[in-house]
Amino acid sequence: MNTEISLKLIKASLKSRENSYAPYSGIHVGAALLCSNGKIYKGSNIECASFSLTICAERAAFSKAITEGELNFEAIAISSNQEDYIFPCGACRQFMIEFADDLTVVLVKSEKEYKTFKIKKLLPNNFSIKQKK
Ligand code: THU
Repeated sequence: MNTEISLKLIKASLKSRENSYAPYSGIHVGAALLCSNGKIYKGSNIECASFSLTICAERAAFSKAITEGELNFEAIAISSNQEDYIFPCGACRQFMIEFADDLTVVLVKSEKEYKTFKIKKLLPNNFSIKQKK
Protein backbone atom coordinates (compact mmCIF):
# COMPACT_ATOMS: atom_id res chain seq x y z
CA MET A 1 0.00 0.00 0.00
CA ASN A 2 1.62 3.28 -1.04
CA THR A 3 1.49 6.50 0.99
CA GLU A 4 -1.15 8.11 -1.22
CA ILE A 5 -3.54 5.16 -0.84
CA SER A 6 -2.95 4.83 2.90
CA LEU A 7 -3.70 8.54 3.40
CA LYS A 8 -6.90 8.15 1.38
CA LEU A 9 -7.89 5.17 3.53
CA ILE A 10 -7.09 6.98 6.77
CA LYS A 11 -9.13 10.02 5.68
CA ALA A 12 -12.07 7.77 4.74
CA SER A 13 -12.02 6.09 8.17
CA LEU A 14 -11.99 9.47 9.94
CA LYS A 15 -14.88 10.62 7.74
CA SER A 16 -16.97 7.50 8.35
CA ARG A 17 -17.12 8.24 12.09
CA GLU A 18 -19.67 10.91 11.12
CA ASN A 19 -22.26 8.25 10.28
CA SER A 20 -21.76 6.27 13.47
CA TYR A 21 -24.98 5.66 15.41
CA ALA A 22 -23.76 5.34 18.98
CA PRO A 23 -26.24 7.05 21.35
CA TYR A 24 -25.56 4.56 24.18
CA SER A 25 -21.76 4.38 24.42
CA GLY A 26 -20.93 7.70 22.77
CA ILE A 27 -18.02 5.89 21.10
CA HIS A 28 -18.10 6.76 17.42
CA VAL A 29 -16.06 4.39 15.29
CA GLY A 30 -15.23 4.71 11.60
CA ALA A 31 -13.70 2.07 9.35
CA ALA A 32 -12.54 2.14 5.75
CA LEU A 33 -11.84 -1.10 3.92
CA LEU A 34 -9.52 -1.22 0.90
CA CYS A 35 -10.24 -3.93 -1.68
CA SER A 36 -7.53 -5.35 -3.94
CA ASN A 37 -9.20 -3.62 -6.90
CA GLY A 38 -8.66 -0.24 -5.20
CA LYS A 39 -12.25 0.35 -4.09
CA ILE A 40 -12.86 1.63 -0.57
CA TYR A 41 -15.94 0.74 1.49
CA LYS A 42 -16.73 2.77 4.58
CA GLY A 43 -18.47 1.48 7.72
CA SER A 44 -19.46 2.84 11.08
CA ASN A 45 -20.75 1.29 14.29
CA ILE A 46 -24.51 0.91 14.72
CA GLU A 47 -25.85 0.51 18.23
CA CYS A 48 -29.22 -0.80 19.35
CA ALA A 49 -31.23 -0.39 22.56
CA SER A 50 -30.87 -4.15 22.88
CA PHE A 51 -27.11 -3.72 23.26
CA SER A 52 -25.90 -7.09 22.03
CA LEU A 53 -27.33 -6.34 18.58
CA THR A 54 -24.70 -3.64 18.05
CA ILE A 55 -22.69 -3.90 14.86
CA CYS A 56 -19.07 -2.75 14.89
CA ALA A 57 -17.70 -0.41 12.23
CA GLU A 58 -15.33 -3.06 10.85
CA ARG A 59 -18.07 -5.62 10.28
CA ALA A 60 -20.33 -2.96 8.79
CA ALA A 61 -17.61 -2.13 6.22
CA PHE A 62 -16.94 -5.80 5.41
CA SER A 63 -20.66 -6.53 5.09
CA LYS A 64 -21.13 -3.66 2.64
CA ALA A 65 -18.19 -4.81 0.53
CA ILE A 66 -19.02 -8.52 0.53
CA THR A 67 -22.65 -7.93 -0.38
CA GLU A 68 -21.42 -5.87 -3.34
CA GLY A 69 -19.43 -8.89 -4.53
CA GLU A 70 -15.98 -8.06 -3.14
CA LEU A 71 -13.88 -10.88 -1.73
CA ASN A 72 -10.31 -9.62 -1.95
CA PHE A 73 -9.11 -7.19 0.68
CA GLU A 74 -5.84 -5.40 1.39
CA ALA A 75 -6.29 -3.20 4.41
CA ILE A 76 -8.72 -1.65 6.86
CA ALA A 77 -8.29 1.65 8.69
CA ILE A 78 -10.09 2.13 12.01
CA SER A 79 -10.57 5.39 13.88
CA SER A 80 -12.80 6.72 16.64
CA ASN A 81 -13.63 9.77 18.74
CA GLN A 82 -11.59 8.38 21.66
CA GLU A 83 -8.24 9.79 22.69
CA ASP A 84 -6.37 6.53 22.33
CA TYR A 85 -6.29 3.98 19.50
CA ILE A 86 -9.28 1.66 19.13
CA PHE A 87 -8.29 -1.96 18.56
CA PRO A 88 -10.78 -4.22 16.77
CA CYS A 89 -12.80 -6.42 19.11
CA GLY A 90 -12.33 -10.18 19.13
CA ALA A 91 -15.46 -10.83 17.09
CA CYS A 92 -14.28 -8.44 14.37
CA ARG A 93 -10.81 -10.01 14.31
CA GLN A 94 -12.37 -13.43 13.69
CA PHE A 95 -14.75 -12.00 11.08
CA MET A 96 -11.98 -10.15 9.23
CA ILE A 97 -9.53 -13.07 9.15
CA GLU A 98 -12.27 -15.20 7.55
CA PHE A 99 -12.00 -13.05 4.43
CA ALA A 100 -8.44 -11.71 4.56
CA ASP A 101 -5.75 -13.62 6.44
CA ASP A 102 -3.07 -11.18 5.29
CA LEU A 103 -5.07 -8.03 6.04
CA THR A 104 -3.21 -4.90 7.12
CA VAL A 105 -5.00 -3.22 10.03
CA VAL A 106 -4.31 0.51 10.34
CA LEU A 107 -5.22 2.01 13.71
CA VAL A 108 -5.76 5.72 13.30
CA LYS A 109 -5.56 8.63 15.73
CA SER A 110 -5.24 11.32 13.07
CA GLU A 111 -3.99 11.73 9.51
CA LYS A 112 -0.45 11.87 10.87
CA GLU A 113 -0.69 9.50 13.82
CA TYR A 114 -1.39 5.85 13.06
CA LYS A 115 0.09 2.39 13.45
CA THR A 116 -0.25 -0.80 11.46
CA PHE A 117 -0.56 -4.47 12.35
CA LYS A 118 -1.15 -7.64 10.40
CA ILE A 119 -4.40 -9.41 11.27
CA LYS A 120 -2.49 -12.63 12.12
CA LYS A 121 -0.54 -10.71 14.76
CA LEU A 122 -3.83 -9.51 16.29
CA LEU A 123 -5.39 -12.98 16.17
CA PRO A 124 -2.70 -15.66 16.43
CA ASN A 125 -3.72 -19.33 16.18
CA ASN A 126 -7.12 -18.35 14.86
CA PHE A 127 -9.95 -20.83 14.64
CA SER A 128 -10.55 -21.95 11.06
CA ILE A 129 -12.17 -24.87 9.28
CA LYS A 130 -10.18 -26.53 6.55
CA GLN A 131 -12.42 -27.08 3.54
CA LYS A 132 -12.60 -30.72 2.38
CA LYS A 133 -11.47 -31.25 -1.20
N1 THU B 1 -16.86 -0.90 18.37
C1 THU B 1 -16.54 -0.94 17.06
O1 THU B 1 -17.22 -0.33 16.22
N2 THU B 1 -15.46 -1.67 16.68
C2 THU B 1 -14.68 -2.39 17.53
O2 THU B 1 -13.83 -3.15 17.09
C3 THU B 1 -14.84 -2.21 18.97
C4 THU B 1 -16.14 -1.62 19.40
C5 THU B 1 -18.05 -0.12 18.79
C6 THU B 1 -19.21 -0.97 19.17
C7 THU B 1 -19.95 -0.07 20.12
O3 THU B 1 -20.87 0.72 19.38
C8 THU B 1 -18.90 0.84 20.70
O4 THU B 1 -17.74 0.67 19.90
C9 THU B 1 -18.57 0.52 22.15
O5 THU B 1 -18.29 -0.81 22.31
